[in-house]
Order: sequence, then structure tokens, then C-alpha cells
Amino acid sequence: MSKNIFLLLLSVVFAGHLFAQLPKIVNIETKNTILLYRVGQDQKLIQSYLGNKLFQPGEYDKLKAGKFEAYITAGTSNLFEPSIRVKHADNNPSLDLQYESHKIVKQDDDVTLTTIKMIDPQYPFEVTLFFKAYYNEDVIEEWTEIKHKEKKPVVLYNYASSTLHFDAKNYWLTQFHGNWAEEMRMQESQLTSGIKIIDSKLGTRAHMYQTPVFYLSLNEKSNENTGELIAGTLGWSGNFQFTFEIDERNNLRVISGINPYASEYKLEPEKVFKTPSFIFTYSNSGKGLASRNMHQWARKYGILDGDKPRLTLLNNWETTYFSFNEEKLAGLFDDAVKLGVDLFLLDDGWFANKYPRNNDNAGLGDWEENKAKLPGGIDALIKAAQQKGSKFGIWIEPEMVNPKSELYEKHPDWIIKLPNRSENYYRNQLVLDLTNPQVQDFVFGVVDNLMTKHPEIAFIKWDCNRMITNGYSPYLKENQSHLYIDYVNSLYKVFDRMRQKYPHLPIMLCSGGGGRVDYGALKYFTEFWPSDNTDGLERVFIQWGYSNFYPSITSCNHITSWGKQSLKFRTDVAMMGKMGYDIPVKHMTDQELKFSQNAVANYKRLNNTIWFGDLFRLVSPYDESRAVLMYVNTEKNKAVLFSYTLNPRYGEFFQKVRLQGLDAAKMYKVEETNINLRQTFMESGKVFSGDFLMKVGLEVSANNSLNSVVLEITEVK
Ligand code: DGJ
Repeated sequence: MSKNIFLLLLSVVFAGHLFAQLPKIVNIETKNTILLYRVGQDQKLIQSYLGNKLFQPGEYDKLKAGKFEAYITAGTSNLFEPSIRVKHADNNPSLDLQYESHKIVKQDDDVTLTTIKMIDPQYPFEVTLFFKAYYNEDVIEEWTEIKHKEKKPVVLYNYASSTLHFDAKNYWLTQFHGNWAEEMRMQESQLTSGIKIIDSKLGTRAHMYQTPVFYLSLNEKSNENTGELIAGTLGWSGNFQFTFEIDERNNLRVISGINPYASEYKLEPEKVFKTPSFIFTYSNSGKGLASRNMHQWARKYGILDGDKPRLTLLNNWETTYFSFNEEKLAGLFDDAVKLGVDLFLLDDGWFANKYPRNNDNAGLGDWEENKAKLPGGIDALIKAAQQKGSKFGIWIEPEMVNPKSELYEKHPDWIIKLPNRSENYYRNQLVLDLTNPQVQDFVFGVVDNLMTKHPEIAFIKWDCNRMITNGYSPYLKENQSHLYIDYVNSLYKVFDRMRQKYPHLPIMLCSGGGGRVDYGALKYFTEFWPSDNTDGLERVFIQWGYSNFYPSITSCNHITSWGKQSLKFRTDVAMMGKMGYDIPVKHMTDQELKFSQNAVANYKRLNNTIWFGDLFRLVSPYDESRAVLMYVNTEKNKAVLFSYTLNPRYGEFFQKVRLQGLDAAKMYKVEETNINLRQTFMESGKVFSGDFLMKVGLEVSANNSLNSVVLEITEVK
């Protein structure tokens, strides 16, 4: 046994037992942050600090133990919102949790897993808190496991993933809300005493109206570069809940987890109830740093293949909708090649025969190629695309069914719906009952059959166009209140299976806009669809919103015909993430086509900086009638700046913008790129020091409406 392993084992053993007489302190540490627990009176686990690390570790001993119970139980002395509420097998509705032991395991140079076990002194019932600290990214991931050995099931009513306490003067909450086509609108408000809840009850997907992400600023409102805050998110693709409660002493507790709404869970003896992860970062330098921490974490741990390149594509949805055939598609393959993108993505409408998928009221569930539209099937399409030099990808929505489908006729018992009420449709469809293992096989089979028959498929778009209403699972029978939780866990089972067999296939997580964007699902996906709204102006706000928590490499931004803005504006907006097209290329003028070809080539030159660089949001569209942001690569020798002028009023004047994230000592050439017809940035081609760019700044914005500028900033030696 190596010396290190020996020492590690020794510390694991000592942590819980041999040093029982010493005051117990558990540190969860990242590069700049520490979350500190200690064991207080009555063996209670207490959060005694969360914030920047102290210079002198010895001073942690001076922190008062306080009363911030790490995981608040219900039914005994607590008078506020609990983290956990249960009913024991003997119907006793109370829980008491006392520290039992903890373990710290360094998983590698970056990641340390700390577990703290607590037990009820009266019942064989235990709760273990898990904390994964990502040192370099300054991110902490938390979840909980609940288990018991009582004689009969225990009913769980509340089961938080995380409980964090704060004692600031004021609290400012930034939430992200919206609806279909208006996702991720930012709203900031001061929390007042009592409870503020942000939650969702959509079942199949986390967000649409409220999103499972927030900033919580302490003392003062924070901005991009100043202010103390945490950025938090729940990795769960179903009902979530964040509870912010300020008590009579102005202390705040934030409880995050699955929404307990209609979800009492009967936990059998010896079974483990595992909550989803709450992921957060603490920043004392504003929202910009918090986002960069999240992005770095996500690229390494939160999304699939976050360090690998992505494919540019042409999608046919807005060009053809359901109306296409082999000939039309062949023309679109040509267009993909003409544009210079990597892949053609065939959207909805390619399947079903008895009830052909010619609009959105039929065919969902019947995943065979439609013979009338595609007599040669998918094989012929792949062959044709490949012959022209394009990869081929395909759309599916495997969790859903139209009542007008063979699947509905064959398996009415596979569908979530109330037995004694009329069916409730959303986009003419219903949700399959994924809690049923046969349905899981079916849904997995949709991907597996496609990939087995057509291994050349290079990309999948996995859509999900509705939430659960009239929720009733024929499979769960008397355990109906398990539906919301079991649905999501079953979905993850399917994703797991899919990824075991197809570990690196690029798959876009789509949810008809409105969103299924969360880190519970994203670890199985390479990218997501932020919104069906692709209007360039709206997208500035939508993508800005997502950029707070999700790295640009995950955000599929397509250039379409939705907006009235110039093609250049829409292209520049799409470029700030993972660029793609969904536009009739044949309607482009020669000049537009040339511009687009050039834009694709530019994007391919700049995409490494955009995907893997650090994001600096310089001017918010919520503050001025423009948005400016930039990405800087790790070596700080390349940066890309995007400036979008929105709708300034007459006489409105834009100040210079100071750049960020560059190396003050380096010299940089600043060149405008993606130019259409005429140059906007008058200093294009000049060389400046990083110092100058960051202290003095540049006039990067055009004054006229809906104009955009892209600057390529390159170190010169
Ligand atoms: C909703 C998606 O957001 C669209 O891009 C498209 O794929 C349609 N579904 C197809 O039904």
C-alpha cells in the first residue's frame, strides 16, 4: 500500500471515530471558497461558514458554532421550512438528525468528495449529505441520500438536495423566467421576510415558466464584476423547488431540491432515495466570475464531451416544416455543402405510415420512415447526403405519442392520463409512461433501432414538446405520488443506457423551446436548443440569459427567417454560441450566400475561442440598448468580441467599452470580421496593448438600430 493511500485511509477512519472527543469540523473547500460544518450541541450538524477562505486556517476555530442546522428536520422543534419531513413506519411524524460520522475522499487532483452521515437516535433512519468540491472550478455539488431499516415503508414528504444559510444585511435574488419563445428573462428583486418560492410543476421538463437557476446576491445587488453572490442550479429535469426564507433575525436559508408538490414518496426499507445535485459557486467578484466558474465546471463535468468540438449544421424545420420528399431534401443537402456546414439535420415529419406525420396531430410514436415521402428510407438519405459531402442527423421525440398513431392503438396502457377524465392535449400529444420498464425499452429502442440500422447517423435532436398534465401512471398503480420523481429517474435510466451504447454521439436536447435545459440531463447531451424564438433581437436576450449558467458550446443558435433584422445581425447573434442554420438557402441572394459562406469559414476559425474561452459580459442589454460580450482563450492570445446595437433612441450615444480578460502586457491586433458590404469598426487593423484595451477601451458599437460588430482580437508579437 502506498504511503499516500495509507494516510488517506487513516484520515478517513479518524475523521469519524477515533477523534470523537475533539470538536468536529468538516471543511468543504475549493480554490477560493470554503463551506464549513461543525458538530454543535446535541450532536447537531451546523453550517458555520460559507464564503471566501480565510488566510489563516487556524481562525476557523474562532467562528461561533451558531444555529444554522445543516439539514433542517420537521416535526420536532423547528418552526421554519424543513429540508426533510417524514412519517415513520409507526406513523410518528418527527425526525431528529444527529451527526454520526464523515468521510473525505480525494478523488483526484481536482475533486474531493465529502460525506456526512446523520442518524435519528430513535429510529433506524439515516441521511447522508454528499458534497463534491471541484477545486479549480470553485464549484460545489451537493446531494442527499436517505435510507432506513424500519419495519415498513417510511413516507418522505420533503427531501431537499441542499440547505444553505446566510446572514447578510440584504438579499437580492435574480431569477430567470419566461414562457415558450420568451425564455430566460432575468428579473432581480430584493427578498423580504417570509418565503419566496421558485418552482416548476411541469413534470417532464424543468423549465418553461421558471428556470432551475438563480443568483443570490448578499448585502448589495451585484453586477458583472463586483458583489458577493452564489450562483445555484438544480440538476433535475422535472419539478424543482428553490425556497428562500428570511426569518425574524434576517437570516436566510435556501432550500433546493425536487419540488415536493404531489410527490410523497414511500421509501421501502434498505432502499436509497437519492436526491438530484444542487450545483453552486460562490463569487465575491460579481456574476461574471460566477458564470465563468459554472462554464468551466460544465465543460469538464456537466455536459457530454464539453472539451470536444461541435458540428455546424443546416436544419430543415423552418424551411420545409412537414412538407418534404427525397428530392427536396437532396436540394437541402446541396445547400448544407454550399454553406460549408458539417451536417444536415432532418427534422420532424419523416416517419409514420398508417397516420403519416404530415402535421403535428398524427404519427408520433410510429418511428418507421414514411414511405410516401421517403421511399428509399433513411439509408437513401444518408447515402445522398454523404455523396454530396455532408453528414446526416435526425430528429426524434421518443417520449411522446399522438392519439392518432398505431402506438396509441396498440398500447393505451403506456400513456400518462387519468382513467376517468378526458385526455388533455398539448400540441396534440400525450406523454408516454416512462415509469413502465417496457416503455423505457421502447424509448431506448427508438434511438437504438435508428443507430443499429443506420450507424452513419452523425447527430440526433431529441425533442420533448409537452409537459405532464392529468398525471396518472397506469404502471405505478397505488403509488401515483411517485410519478413526477420516477418519470425523471426513468428518463435518466434511458439516457444512461443510450450513452453506454453510444457514448459520444452528438445529441441536442430540445424541448420545443420553453426548455429542458438543466445539468441533470445535460451530462447526457452535447448541446441544447434554447428557444424556438430565433428572432435575432429576441435571441440577444435569450442567449444572454442562458449564458449566465451554460457555456456557449452548448447553446444551439440557428440563423433563421424569424427576425426582421439583417442576415448579418442574425448571423452575428448565432455566432456567440454553437452556430447553425435553419433557413431556405435557395432564397438567398448571391451576396447573402457569399456572406454566409464567409461567416461559416470565420466561425470555424474562431469557434475554439468562442466554445472554450472565458466569457466576459461587458454591456448588458438590460442596461443599455446594446449588448457587448467577449470570449478570451486560456492563453490570452485570441479573443472575439460581439457587439449588438438593439434599438437606441434618437440621440442616444454609446460610450467606449473597456475590454476584459486580456493580458495587459500583450499587444493585440483588433480586426473587424464578418463584414457585410461595409466596415463598421473604424479602427479595424490597429494594434493596441491589452492594457489600453482594458483601461481605455474601444468604440465597438454602431449607433444605428440592429447593427452588429464582430471583432477578432489576436496577439501580435
Ligand atoms: C420543436 C422544436 O423546437 C423545433 O425546432 C422543431 O424541431 C419542432 N419541435 C418539430 O416538431
